[in-house]
Amino acid sequence: MHTVKHIQELRQFIRQTRWNRPEARIGFVPTMGYLHQGHQSLLDTARRECDVVVLSIFVNPIQFGPNEDFSRYPRDEERDMAIARAAGTDIVFFPQVEEMYPAPTKTIVSVSGITQRLCGASRPGHFDGVATVVTKLLNIVQPDYAYFGMKDAQQVAVIEQMVYDLNIPVTIVPCPTVRESDGLAMSSRNVYLTAEQRRQAVVLSQALDTAERMIRDKRDGLSADELREAVTATIRTAPLAEIDYAEVLSYPALEPIRALSEADRIIVALAVKFGSTRLIDNRLFHLR
Ligand code: PAJ
Repeated sequence: MHTVKHIQELRQFIRQTRWNRPEARIGFVPTMGYLHQGHQSLLDTARRECDVVVLSIFVNPIQFGPNEDFSRYPRDEERDMAIARAAGTDIVFFPQVEEMYPAPTKTIVSVSGITQRLCGASRPGHFDGVATVVTKLLNIVQPDYAYFGMKDAQQVAVIEQMVYDLNIPVTIVPCPTVRESDGLAMSSRNVYLTAEQRRQAVVLSQALDTAERMIRDKRDGLSADELREAVTATIRTAPLAEIDYAEVLSYPALEPIRALSEADRIIVALAVKFGSTRLIDNRLFHLR
């Protein structure tokens, strides 16, 4: 496994790979590090589907708001390298902030519409930061396939739209959410939770189970409002949970719906705060 800190070095490596093995499929997994089994599953899928696997670890400052956790975002370089190596990663791109942003960027990639709701509404500018850094990373690595987790379903929708609109020559591969045994979606931010918050955090996946049961039992007559209210009621059973949003929207357009019958696919999406830690989760339902 090679660890590369500089863009030129990475480009050189990719150029050489393409020269030596023109048929090689290059797979890319962008992350912010503090790797867990969710990230690992993306690496495993990339390893299965590609000849060369590139992982990036970069905590991207421009996708964090001024009062968010950029400076305290968890980091563990040694552990990340061990996990990357065990997953069969070929190259880890591990740039410093100065390498990615030698000067403040004057160019921002901004996807409209689908960024207005959910995390886009709660975290203004967040998806501009994500779209901009992912564009930069895709331009640097130039992979054939890039792997993203459905844990961040809105991020997947934004990246897919951006790749389509800007004709970026990459196939985006969405991968399923990996969960703890009690259902909590794995996240680097779970380490912020106190023991009691961690116990109550299972309420997010329980709320999604509530939604799943309701849709299964009563699909046709069900309104988005009824579904949202039932999901909200489930989350309220956890006294430490503070709801940021609990929404039922079409996917991937993320438009409001009234009856579930209005969309082919819907997403039930949640953001819930426990103290200062904000957790997100979602489930997609294919209705037709
Ligand atoms: P990060 O939060 O580190 O996540 C990196 C990738 O891992 C994302 O595609 C995310 O959806 C996926 N992931 C996280 N938790 C997961 C889980 N429990 N199951 C499956 N996949 C999971 O998302 C980012 O970083 C950044 O926004 C990034 C795309 C790297 C741009 O900075």
